[in-house]
Amino acid sequence: MKVYENISLKSHNTFGIDVKARRLVVVGTDEPLPALEEPYLILGAGSDVVFTRDYPGTVVLLDPAAADAVLQADGTVVAPAGMVLDSLIQWTLERGVYGLENLSAIPGTVGASVVQNVGAYGVEAKDVVSRVEAYDLRERRTVAFSADECRFGYRTSLFKGEPGRWLIRRVHYRLAHTFEPNLTYRTLEALPHATAAELRQSITDLRWSKLPRPEEHGSAGSFFKNPVVDESVCRRLKAEYPDMPEAHAAEGGYKLSAGWLIDRAGWKGRTMGRAGVWPQNALVLYNTGGCTGAEVVTLAEAVRQDVQRRFGIGLEPEAIIV
Ligand code: EPU
Repeated sequence: MKVYENISLKSHNTFGIDVKARRLVVVGTDEPLPALEEPYLILGAGSDVVFTRDYPGTVVLLDPAAADAVLQADGTVVAPAGMVLDSLIQWTLERGVYGLENLSAIPGTVGASVVQNVGAYGVEAKDVVSRVEAYDLRERRTVAFSADECRFGYRTSLFKGEPGRWLIRRVHYRLAHTFEPNLTYRTLEALPHATAAELRQSITDLRWSKLPRPEEHGSAGSFFKNPVVDESVCRRLKAEYPDMPEAHAAEGGYKLSAGWLIDRAGWKGRTMGRAGVWPQNALVLYNTGGCTGAEVVTLAEAVRQDVQRRFGIGLEPEAIIV
């Protein structure tokens, strides 16, 4: 375990916001957690968080270098929660097990990908996760969850619903020894994908064509969730905007595209202070350089209010504001 005092979190959040934590604790996958005084925050790679001020308590991170993943004979992969998800995906392809390729290049750790139920290009974490080992900070014991018990939903899970309670230690994935590409996302069919490595490369390129490169501009990927509305709302908007994309939502109703709504409201490429709306994708807010969390929140609120006023749709952030 490593403990740091009054340390910058700039390299621990993908927005690159320069706030300090009073204490930062980095623990190994199986290391016991020290008793934590409130307030504390369990952070993955900080890929879905906006820090608006110095953190007055303890930030806990799982050591990214703590352990390697393990491949079992039936194709199950058991990965330590601190591992970077994209490194795990590369690792699985090198060992000939498939199912995670479509999540390539999503920033963040294995643990965070479960909390958020990350998804992209036709696959969500919940489709491949079979078991989660988590430490319950309230009861101070380790609990194993089946996929059903994780209560996964669109960018959410039981773990997200109880912030501060669960430290994910390990994630089990049910993967396949044969490569069957998932090409359900509308534009994937057209991409080169003969092998899993080629599909992974195509997905990575597609993702980087729509999102800022982390080494150039900080962001949290999609800032807002796609809103789910009922049929009457969808029909009303469709009558006014026939080109508006919509899809049936797994949870019932219709999923609209927050990116399209924000784009249509004219926000693409606009900046407020040092926060901006990504010129290639209106769903992404980014750090134009030296941005504060307050600037991100101010821009997000202006976007949210404008979309509410124009379309009558309330957008919710995917990112957590701290
Ligand atoms: N669109 C616009 N203008 C924009 C952005 C999008 O008109 O500026 C339109 C697109 O043309 C398309 C529709 O909106 O018709 C949807 O866009 P896209 O397919 O790119 O995906 P998205 O709904 O914007 C979601 C996820 C992404 C994921 C992609 C691909 C959410 C909040 N976002 O984005 O996930 O990579 O689908 O599967 O569900 C993330 O969560 O951080 C993330 C990047």
